Amino acid sequence: MFADRVLKRLPLAPGDVVADVGCGEGLVGLAALERPGVHVLFADVSPLLVERARDAVRDRGALDRATFAVADAASLTPLADASVDAVVARAALAYVPDKVAAFAAVRRVLRPGGRLSIAEPIFRDTAFRLTAMRQALETLDPDLALLHRWHALALPDTLDGIRVHPLTNFDERGLLRFAIGAGFTDVQVRLHLEQVASVAVSWDAALATAMLPGAPTLGTALAECYTADERVRFEQRFRPLFERGGFPADVRAHAYLWAVSPATEVRSG
Ligand SMILES: C[S@@+](CC[C@H](N)C(=O)[O-])C[C@H]1O[C@@H](n2cnc3c(N)ncnc32)[C@H](O)[C@@H]1O
Repeated sequence: MFADRVLKRLPLAPGDVVADVGCGEGLVGLAALERPGVHVLFADVSPLLVERARDAVRDRGALDRATFAVADAASLTPLADASVDAVVARAALAYVPDKVAAFAAVRRVLRPGGRLSIAEPIFRDTAFRLTAMRQALETLDPDLALLHRWHALALPDTLDGIRVHPLTNFDERGLLRFAIGAGFTDVQVRLHLEQVASVAVSWDAALATAMLPGAPTLGTALAECYTADERVRFEQRFRPLFERGGFPADVRAHAYLWAVSPATEVRSG
């Protein structure tokens, strides 16, 4: 779904080189490889995930149309100036603390006229909600405060935290400003909001669940951040909700951004 939406508006031709920045296991890049003759550069700051992407490409027998790089999106150092026709990213730039640097790096590696298409999760509303709830919960409902503590291991729950945390130091308008500030043209942003129903899961599955990639699972959080008494209270109160999918529906927000690198080439250094 995300990959289709990111690729839908990219006019890719055989021979084009697409860089999937923050590729992870390759979600978007693998979908791009399905376009005839397209070459994909899988780049991620994690060597482990670059290798996973390589394995997935090998499984599809497409290694001849793929290259791989361990690269921080804030600089994309291993990638040469004006070396790719398109840059795609999904839930990747959101993890980069310095987004101005990331957009400048993306523009540097795009050839003049090259295209950028990304989808980034927008967590600011969730974090503001967590912040507003934090104080009230301690007095109104101590059990809900336990649930809140788990959520706050994934996203900040203070205004200062929201300002500096990579996942919340931007919103969809910020993405637009970053792209314009980096010199992109034809910048468009679309905010996609969708209601996500709570799904019934076993308690074991709940314990293995993390709020976000990179955040502790519920099991790890309970073991490390809760007292024995709190763990018992958490399970008594919330296990039934996990098991019947009884949490309130949430709203998931993603910003899709499309932009064109201007015809004048940008040189680094
Ligand atoms: C939520 S995953 C998304 C992976 C993939 N794009 C997808 O859609 O499935 C976030 C990815 O961003 C990568 N990442 C985080 N910080 C990064 C950085 N500074 N530079 C490059 N990649 C980064 C992580 O290693 C991880 O693979």
